[in-house]
Amino acid sequence: MARPADRSVLSSLRGSDLLSSADLSPEQTRALLELAADLKAGRGPGPQQGRILGLIFSKASTRTRVSFSVAMARLGGQTIDLLPTVTQVGRGEPVADTARVLSRYCDALAIRTFAQTDLEAYAHWATIPVINALTDREHPCQALADYLTMAEAFAATDGGGLALERLQGLRLAYVGDGNNVAHSLMLCGALLGVTVSIGTPAGFAPDPKVLDQARSLAQHGATVTVVHDPVEAVRGAQAVYTDVWASMGQEEEQDARERAFAGWCLDEALLSEADPRAIVLHCLPAHRGEEISAGVIEGSASRVFDQAENRLHAQQALLATLLGAL
Ligand code: CP
Ligand code: NVA
Repeated sequence: MARPADRSVLSSLRGSDLLSSADLSPEQTRALLELAADLKAGRGPGPQQGRILGLIFSKASTRTRVSFSVAMARLGGQTIDLLPTVTQVGRGEPVADTARVLSRYCDALAIRTFAQTDLEAYAHWATIPVINALTDREHPCQALADYLTMAEAFAATDGGGLALERLQGLRLAYVGDGNNVAHSLMLCGALLGVTVSIGTPAGFAPDPKVLDQARSLAQHGATVTVVHDPVEAVRGAQAVYTDVWASMGQEEEQDARERAFAGWCLDEALLSEADPRAIVLHCLPAHRGEEISAGVIEGSASRVFDQAENRLHAQQALLATLLGAL
C-alpha cells in the first residue's frame, strides 16, 4: 500500500539552499518528488506573485535555464537573467559583494558554474536560497527529474500518484564518465533506496568522497557500486543512463576522451543486457554515435523527453518549497 511522504518535512526547507543532492533527507527527497508529480497533474501550491529568481549561468544551458524560467512563471513569479558577461560578475566583482547585493533584489538564485566552492561562496554570502543549477561536482536538480521519471515508469499508482517505495531494490545503471550527473544520481538514488551501478573506464570513476558519502546515505539496503565493465554495470538494470564523455569545460579533452571511452557507447547490444522493461535516460544534450546510439535514444525504451519535461515539474516543486509557498 502506497504511503505518501509527509509533506510537512518540506516546510523546514523554506529559505534553504540546494547545493547538493545530499542536502535533502530521504523524506524530503520523496516529498519533493510527490509534490512534483502533483504539480504535473495540475495540483499544487498557490502563486508567488512578485517573487524573483535570479539566474547566474556561466555555462550554456537550454533545459535548466528554460525550465527554471517557466517554473517560476507558473508559480506567478519572474526570472531575471544575470548573465555574468553583462553584469559586473564577469569583470571580477567579488562574490561576497555580488551575493549580498543580489539578495536585496531577488528571492532566490539559481547558479550554474564550474567549481562547487564558487557555488558555496555564493551560498555563504547570500541571504536568499541558492540552488545548484550544475557545477563540475553535482547536478541535483537533474537527479530529482531523473528519479521522478524512473518513478513514473516503475512506481506510478492507479490514482496518478507515486508509490516511491517501489523504487527500493530497483537498479539504475549509469555508464560513461563519473561526472557531476553521476555524482547526483548516486546521492539521490541512495536516499531513495535505489541501487546505483556506475560503469566507467578506469581513470574516469566518480570522486571517491562522493561515493563514500552516497554509501553512507544509502537507505533500505541500496548499494552504490563502481565497476569498469559496461556489461557488468548494465546487466539486469531497470534504468540505464548515460551522459556526454566530455562535459562543459572539458572540450579540449574531447579527442582523448573519445579514445578512452571506445566501447562504452550505450547501444542496442549493451541495452539488451538490461532488464527487458528497462528505460533509457540521458540528461541531454546528447551526442548520438558517441555515448549513445541514435537507435537507443530514439527507441521505445527511451524516456529522455519525459525526463527533460520533468526538470520543469521537479524545479517548480523545489522553488515552491524553498520560497515557502507550501
Ligand atoms: N540537462 C541539462 O542540464 O541541460 P542544459 O545544459 O540544457 O540545461
Ligand atoms: N555532464 C554534463 C551535463 C550537462 C547537462 C556537463 O557538465 O556538461
